[in-house]
Parts: sequence; structure tokens; C-alpha cells
Amino acid sequence: MLDEGELARNAVAVLRGNWIREHTVPARTLYPHQWSWDAAFIAVGLAYADPERAWADLRSLFSAQWADGRVPHIVFDPDVSERDYFPGPGFWGRQTTGIVQPPVHARAVWLVHQRHPSPQRLREFYPKLVHQQEYLARHRDYGGGLVSIVHPWESGLDNSPAWDDALSAIPADLDMLRQYRRRDIEVAAVSHRPTDRDYARYIGLAASYRDVGYQDSAKHPFLVECPAFNTLYADAELALAEIAEAIGQAPAPHRQRAHDIQEALLQRLFDSSTGLFYALDLHSEKRTEARCISGLLPLLLPGLPLAIADGLVRELTSTRFGIPAASYDRTAPDFDTLRYWRGPVWINMNWLLWRGLKAHGRPELAEQLRMALLTLIAEHGCFEYFAPDTGEGIGGSEFSWTAALALDLMGGIIAGP
Ligand code: SER
Repeated sequence: MLDEGELARNAVAVLRGNWIREHTVPARTLYPHQWSWDAAFIAVGLAYADPERAWADLRSLFSAQWADGRVPHIVFDPDVSERDYFPGPGFWGRQTTGIVQPPVHARAVWLVHQRHPSPQRLREFYPKLVHQQEYLARHRDYGGGLVSIVHPWESGLDNSPAWDDALSAIPADLDMLRQYRRRDIEVAAVSHRPTDRDYARYIGLAASYRDVGYQDSAKHPFLVECPAFNTLYADAELALAEIAEAIGQAPAPHRQRAHDIQEALLQRLFDSSTGLFYALDLHSEKRTEARCISGLLPLLLPGLPLAIADGLVRELTSTRFGIPAASYDRTAPDFDTLRYWRGPVWINMNWLLWRGLKAHGRPELAEQLRMALLTLIAEHGCFEYFAPDTGEGIGGSEFSWTAALALDLMGGIIAGP
């Protein structure tokens, strides 16, 4: 029997334990700085546990927004030693990374405001959130109406099989990697983390972006349109429309942009023969054939045509993904129950799918997914991700977004003292 009170107390304790001055770290040992999309998911949960911290966390992230509008994927804490995270500020040459992550912040701002209405905060964040979208539209759209990621880390789904084809064209310089120390495999099990071969490519790609001064162009060696990133890019416009309306600005241009992004998703990333969305490599002009959880994510968009949404629900509930959804096709020969985004169950993607099921009028399935997620977390703890076969908690423990989204899934069961 699920003890929601106890789960809520544990979740709040995780969020309190990971709070540092004015932001929340994803996990103290493995991720000791502030991460971009983590901050958004965390704010959604902090709205239940400590609303002032929700706003402070988002404010701390946006205080590091670049002049061109990009919101960096990590804001480094100057009090954390270079030894405690790799690649740290010494590698990137500044106090933030130069890459981005999915723009989930407009939705987070709107959700925090819904629990704790603050038109003043909406007015504060609106121009920053618009600027974040403008960076993506101006610098990352290479002509098709969708935005590209230039590094797998930008997707947040680092070693997803979705990138394998595009990454195969990138040299994996293992000798170069040996000049560094991978901190992640000192503090987490090596079988739960991306391989050295993947890491060598990650570091090479980050160094090449750094070496061109983080300037964007079609020459990025890795240039991929991800269905999840673009769904969240569209959902940000839908959230901005709601924010705009609430503060007396025009919502229509945001709704139009969301519609245009959805059309581009359908045209460029949807495969009608399998009913799923797939990442597109702009260099080879080929879509990956790997069935990944990112391909289900357009379900989040309420305007998605009914037949396509129905197909995504069929795929979600099939043996390939299941409830809760694995991050990769469970029937694929290279499905890996432990290795980061190549199989394990992640709470944030499932939370987004839960929202998608509700948006598409599937309350029973949404409830089944909600209960499956809460049971997993209650039985195994607020882990970073979970083995899809046994439910074992893997990766980092006391992971902030798992705790935060558990609070939202419980819809406001607030922990006692
Ligand atoms: N997820 C990456 C890491 O493992 C970077 O964002 O550190």
C-alpha cells in the first residue's frame, strides 16, 4: 500500500538536502552544480514544498542567461572544486557551459504560478523566457522550422540510442579522454553511466564548440533534430501564451509558433509506418530507426491529431515501452536495463507522458502511470533512474527531480513537520 505521507516527507527531505544557498543541485555527489532542465522540474516540486525557493531556483538559473538568450545547461557553483565535476568551468572556459537543454522553464514558471499566483513573477520571467526561445529560433533552426541540438547533452538524454548514427561520424578520441579524469564513474557505478567511447565523443564535441567561441553555424559536427526537444520547444510557446495572457500581452503569436513547430514535427520527424517520431540527423539527412522514449513525447502537445496521439498511446502501452515507459525499446537487442538512457525508467519523461495522457483524454491510463511511478519511488527511493525489469533504483540517490515530480504526481499531499 502506497504511503503518500511518507513519500512526501522523503521527497521534501531530498529537496531540502540538495538546496545550496540559492539553488538546488540534482544530486550532491554526482551533479554538484545547477542544471538547466533539472531546475525547471525541481521548481515544479518546490512549489509544493517551498514556493519561495521555486522562484529563487529559477531566478538563479536565469541570472546566468547569456546575452544572446541561451540558458546554459550548467551554471557552475564557484565554491565547488574543479575536481568534483568533469568537465567543469576550467574546461568550458567560463562559469557556465555553452550548450543548452530542453526549454521546460516556461511551463515550470506557469505551473509554479498556478499553485502560488504571482503576476509580478510572471512579468519578471516573461521577457527572459521569450529571449530563451528567440535564441533557439534564431540560432538553432537550420531551415525546417525545428531546432537542432549540437551536442547529445543538450537533449538531456545523453546516451540515448537516438544519437548513435549521428555520433558514429564523430571521432572517439580515447587518448584525449585519458588526459582527463571522469569523475562520474568514481561516484556512480560504471555500468550505469555512458561508455568511455561515448564520453570521448562528448568531450570532443564540447571542445570544438568551445574552440569556435560557442558560435552557431551549420558547420556543427553534430546537428540533430530531436522530437522531445522540439516538443518541449513547442510546449514552451503554449506556456508563454498562457503567461502572456495573464499579464496583458498578446498570446496569439505564441500559439501560432507552437502550431508551426507541431506542423514541422509532423512533417520532418513522424514516421507513419511505425506511428512514432524519430531524431533526424541534418548531415546525413536520415532519421534514426531507434525507437526511443523521445519519439513518444509529442503526445504532450494537446493539438496533436487524434489518430497520431492514438498511435503514440498504442506504442507507449505496447511491450516496447510499457507503463512506466522504459527510455528505449525493451525488445531491441541492445536494450540495456542499467545504462542511463539506453533502457532505464526516468521519472521526468514519464511525468511528461502522464501530462500528455491527461491532455489527450486518457484519465485511466494517466492514473495507471501515476500510480506506477509513485509505487516505484516509494518502494525504491528517490533515485535518478530505475531498472525497468526489477525496479531497482540506479544512478544517483536522493535525486532532486524524482523527489520534486513525486510531489507533483501526488498533487499537493504536503509533508508534515
Ligand atoms: N548529464 C551529463 C552528466 O552526466 C551532463 O549534463 O554530467
